[in-house]
Amino acid sequence: MTIHRPIIEILRHGTPGDRLQVKGWVRTKRSLKEFSFVEVNDGSSLSGLQVVFSADLPDYEPLSKQLTTGTAVEFKGELVASQGKNQRVELRAATVKIWGTADTETYPLQKKRHSFEFLRTIGHLRGRTNTIGAVMRVRNACATAIHQFFQERGFLWIHTPVVTASDCEGAGELFTVTNLDLENPPRTPEQNIDFSQDFFGRRAYLTVSGQLEAEIMATAFSNVYTFGPTFRAENSNTSRHLAEFWMVEPEMAFCNLQGDMDLAEAFLKHIFAYVCDRCPEDMQFFQDRIDGTVLATAEQIIHQEFARLTYTEAIALLEKSNRSFEFPVAWGLDLQSEHERYLAEDYCQRPVIVSDYPAEIKAFYMRLNDDGKTVAAMDVLAPKIGEIIGGSQREERLEGLEERITAQGLELDAYWWYLDLRRFGTVPHAGFGLGFERLVQFMTGMENIRDVIPFPRSPGNAEF
Ligand code: 4AD
Ligand code: MG
Repeated sequence: MTIHRPIIEILRHGTPGDRLQVKGWVRTKRSLKEFSFVEVNDGSSLSGLQVVFSADLPDYEPLSKQLTTGTAVEFKGELVASQGKNQRVELRAATVKIWGTADTETYPLQKKRHSFEFLRTIGHLRGRTNTIGAVMRVRNACATAIHQFFQERGFLWIHTPVVTASDCEGAGELFTVTNLDLENPPRTPEQNIDFSQDFFGRRAYLTVSGQLEAEIMATAFSNVYTFGPTFRAENSNTSRHLAEFWMVEPEMAFCNLQGDMDLAEAFLKHIFAYVCDRCPEDMQFFQDRIDGTVLATAEQIIHQEFARLTYTEAIALLEKSNRSFEFPVAWGLDLQSEHERYLAEDYCQRPVIVSDYPAEIKAFYMRLNDDGKTVAAMDVLAPKIGEIIGGSQREERLEGLEERITAQGLELDAYWWYLDLRRFGTVPHAGFGLGFERLVQFMTGMENIRDVIPFPRSPGNAEF
């Protein structure tokens, strides 16, 4: 019997004599007088399977003509040891079925190098390229590793809402969700838009973070994590910002900042080890074609301890660095990406966890330290990327939290349930958020964050 197997599995385990079927898309074809060699890729691995299609087969000429790049095809045949040196086995086709042709004149992906900018304009086809293919498999492996890490440690995966009425970060970078008639919205007597008549009876937004709801769940289930899409209407047209990105947010009851930092480090080590083990061919591709440091970086993450500095120490180092930064360094400054990169890339030459930032530059929920000036916050800064994780111990004391909310100009009423958690069974707790795309970027060495998510959303871009 002929069985269908993914190409990655055939390449790894297929043995000459196996009778099998492959389905996929033609990457390349070389026609000689007696054979055509067709490379078929089904997305399961970087390498495709070489299929030898002999001129003895019926309708060789017309079929061979149709086997152009991009054609969807199905071959049945027998696996044989390959004569060529690029592959161990190849399929000798007995039958071919063309599912869908791709016209050479108009199919935009030809066998040449296309720029990533160009590939973004054909987001519906770019998954068929080597680089985007490798990115998506590594991305998938990262997600699997994340679930494995938390599940093995007894964390409960919770699904936090996408639509919310609260601004977790208090930074005002919210997208409004509405079904009001935008041509003619209801108005209050003061002529403001009357959101009480909107779908949710109030103004609602796309979430910027699942943290507040994760905190709710941590005070019932101890250790939890979220993994979902988050949205930020920040107008940052950079290679590290998306308007829609995925975030992983663990939250732990009975945990302090130290435990939070330790978890973040163990977490990143686990993900890198898992991906190097599962996707060696894709990682080698990134090493050879994208960034010649990715394998050394992965080794370092897995085997070396991260550096740790307090914010105050970091500022002192930046002041001593004799670098001319665009944003001048002084205690109280929010670290900019140039500072983050100096610390991780140049000074530490590895990931560094910076902790205990000034209270003024951090979100309202972070726990005030005994010095009264700093909060129990931590950011993991990675070479080339900068901030990849942001986290903190949360303010679990009711009065302190009320003060922080008010001091940041936010409404206490809006946070009534969040404050309730401090009234009923409050405990020290901590968590962090990992920017999933920044992780994939760091792992693969990809320059632009828009090339590590299948369908990037950024200012001016929502195609596909
Ligand atoms: O530092 P942030 O804003 O932290 C939070 O949202 C916390 N509520 C997390 C928590 O403690 N549970 O965001 C967390 C991470 C950042 O470190 C960064 O990696 C990523 O999310 N991130 C972005 N990634 C892509 N595009 C953007 N616009 C991002 N903004 C933040
Ligand atoms: Mg942050």
